[in-house]
Amino acid sequence: NSTIVTVDGPSGAGKGTLSQLLAQRLGYRLLDSGALYRLVALASINKAISVENASALRDCASTLDVEFAPADDGVTVILEGQDVTAAIRQEHVSMRASEVAAVDAVRTALLQRQRDFAVAPGLVADGRDMGTTVFPAAQHKFYLTASAEARAQRRYQQLLGRGESVDLAALVADIQARDQRDQSRATSPLRPAQDAHIVDSTEMSIAQVLEHMIDIIGV
Ligand code: CDP
Repeated sequence: NSTIVTVDGPSGAGKGTLSQLLAQRLGYRLLDSGALYRLVALASINKAISVENASALRDCASTLDVEFAPADDGVTVILEGQDVTAAIRQEHVSMRASEVAAVDAVRTALLQRQRDFAVAPGLVADGRDMGTTVFPAAQHKFYLTASAEARAQRRYQQLLGRGESVDLAALVADIQARDQRDQSRATSPLRPAQDAHIVDSTEMSIAQVLEHMIDIIGV
């Protein structure tokens, strides 16, 4: 018996950080569904599968040999025995992830794999369609959002912290393009579940959002 908390929303809304904090606080398992799409993207690049080849992408997704190993600073992601934690965060992999995520057969192939993450006492599922498609019966659903400017600003600070130089205007444009792609795809487009709590974090800190979510869950 597993309590499911879903955290959906657009790129850069703070879902990753909040899902991790929430899982820690509740003692629940964490599903980073975006990592699965990133892994399919990386595997498809390694195997030279084109984004047009839906059946090869589906096979790639359904045979994905992946392991999520807990580490001091989060989770180590292992694909076919190789540590790909950093590799799946590269910009070209992000781009490919958003392309393979638009392929119907890929989403279907990943469905059961995502559901298998649900264990007692509970799961925090981070993604785009956790509350709508993957776990429609989840007990607590959140849709985290913030203005494109606020989301770009956060990513900007993150990249600066890593010593990477970036252009804020380019980040805003990039985030708007990804929103557009996530919202307009035919299968499981990005939208809040009917019964989701919508949290706009434009004017809130991570700590404030976390407390707000904990209040709603009621623990
Ligand atoms: O939030 P961010 O764009 O940095 O990346 P992510 O959450 O790791 O997701 C990577 C890509 O996978 C996104 O661009 C989405 O298009 C896609 N995705 C999806 O379609 N469905 C999910 N449940 C999770 C991610």
